[in-house]
Amino acid sequence: MNIVLVGFMGSGKSKVGKALAKATGRELIDTDALITSGGSSIGEIFHNGGESAFRAKERAAVKEAARASNAVISTGGGTVVDPSNVRELKRGGLIVYLKADEDELVRRLEGSKKERPMLGKDVAGRVRALLSEREPIYESVADIVVRSDARNADRVVEQITTKLDGTQRTNRVRVATAPSYTVTIGRGLLGDIALPKGAEKAVVISHPRLRRLYGAAFAHPWLTFPEGEEHKSLATAAVLSEGLAKAALHRDDVVIALGGGVVGDVSGFVASTYGRGIRVIQVPTTLLAMVDSSVGGKTGVNLPQGKNLVGTFHQPSAVYADLDVLRTLPERDYRGGLAEVIKYAFIADPSIVKLLEKEDLLGVVTRSVKIKAEVVASDERDAGRRAILNYGHTLGHAIELASDLQHGEAVSVGMVYAAIVARLLGLSDLVDDHRRVLDAVGLPTRVDGLRWSEVRKRMLLDKKYAMGDRMVLLEGPAKPVVRPVPVDVLERAWKEL
Ligand SMILES: NC(=O)c1ccc[n+]([C@@H]2O[C@H](COP(=O)([O-])OP(=O)(O)OC[C@H]3O[C@@H](n4cnc5c(N)ncnc54)[C@H](O)[C@@H]3O)[C@@H](O)[C@H]2O)c1
Ligand SMILES: [Zn+2]
Repeated sequence: MNIVLVGFMGSGKSKVGKALAKATGRELIDTDALITSGGSSIGEIFHNGGESAFRAKERAAVKEAARASNAVISTGGGTVVDPSNVRELKRGGLIVYLKADEDELVRRLEGSKKERPMLGKDVAGRVRALLSEREPIYESVADIVVRSDARNADRVVEQITTKLDGTQRTNRVRVATAPSYTVTIGRGLLGDIALPKGAEKAVVISHPRLRRLYGAAFAHPWLTFPEGEEHKSLATAAVLSEGLAKAALHRDDVVIALGGGVVGDVSGFVASTYGRGIRVIQVPTTLLAMVDSSVGGKTGVNLPQGKNLVGTFHQPSAVYADLDVLRTLPERDYRGGLAEVIKYAFIADPSIVKLLEKEDLLGVVTRSVKIKAEVVASDERDAGRRAILNYGHTLGHAIELASDLQHGEAVSVGMVYAAIVARLLGLSDLVDDHRRVLDAVGLPTRVDGLRWSEVRKRMLLDKKYAMGDRMVLLEGPAKPVVRPVPVDVLERAWKEL
């Protein structure tokens, strides 16, 4: 895990960074040093290309720094003003805000010889203006806040390490199905996955890429298959089953599914049928898999005739969601997972939006898993209540098939559509709310270039559509209901989208 230092210029990030790196045995990465490694000083970059040139270099530097896994990363004063930098830094790291008083900062900066193009001549006035703008941002992105007195860096380091211990939490969520199991959510979990009682052997099922990235954490034999939804097939299941047989896996042994929903679904399916059913441990590596597919026990593969047409219910014996692995997940997949997270916020727990704004990933995943666990336990076999998890998916599935949107993006548009339908039926008016929250994380809220007739046709073909023109709608925040919707309302809502 990285420790990222943020704060105003003069708050002591470099000095504390050095001491912290030494004290915790981490490498020190200074983003300003990466920026100037090309040869131009910060002043020259500002002079030649203005602040925008500097910020572009800074973004590249942050991306590079965030690739480290066990470093102290010291950032510039304005780095975290850009949300994309925050996202990069948060994925594999905890953010520490070094907070100092305005007067103290002015005193330090007036006495400093370092080049500070953002400050100009009126240091006090500029500090006041910039600080009032940035202080709330520092506060909101920080996992921990420490008062900094750069003259005594060791004391600051001590405070940081004490507080860090407190944030290195691991959360556990119980899924009360029969039998029940635990979802463990935290960081650095991959190396700690224990085999369940009675198991002598395990086989890890995954993709080659994930084996390259995370293989070191597992001392078991591997079976890998290529990435992509098209490999979620009976053919893959056959090859994997034979692989388990060759590895001589027995009834009490276990399959470890390391990957996104594709790996989870196929591995779960194979485990549920091999030897008439052996145990599976789900180790989700995408955000979607962490908050959705790894919990609940639905497994399956696709047929040429449709998605998930062959499958079983087979609850995992444990789930381990290691947030550190999200660092290597492509941005678009990450954002897609956020659509499911926001779905939980809408149907069950609006406070998730606050956690998202704070970039509290542990909190976000834990709350989401809690909701999925609760719904699943109340309806293990998908006979009723589980339908609310389909919020946004009626239209979502249809436009996912008919456009190049990926699942989460399509669901995002589908939730806005559901909110419009709810408004037309007089149930609630949450359309603006939906657009605002989804927009804020960069998810689409409308789709172009599709004809209603095409979309409607796809909606009618959807397997989950068997109940007729019924949709999950909100009567208010966190108040989902399933309601029939007249066809003309479905069409009007499409036009308003
Ligand atoms: N069983 C359920 O209840 C359930 C629920 C929702 C979705 N699903 C299924 O889940 C599937 C979609 O899952 P998904 O969105 O996780 O996609 P995915 O499994 O295809 O993963 C997306 C891509 O990211 C790569 N990847 C995964 N983790 C990574 C990491 N940490 N670093 C770098 N690359 C990584 C994968 O190799 C893959 O190419 C669909 O098949 C869907 O039907 C199942
Ligand atoms: Zn979904």
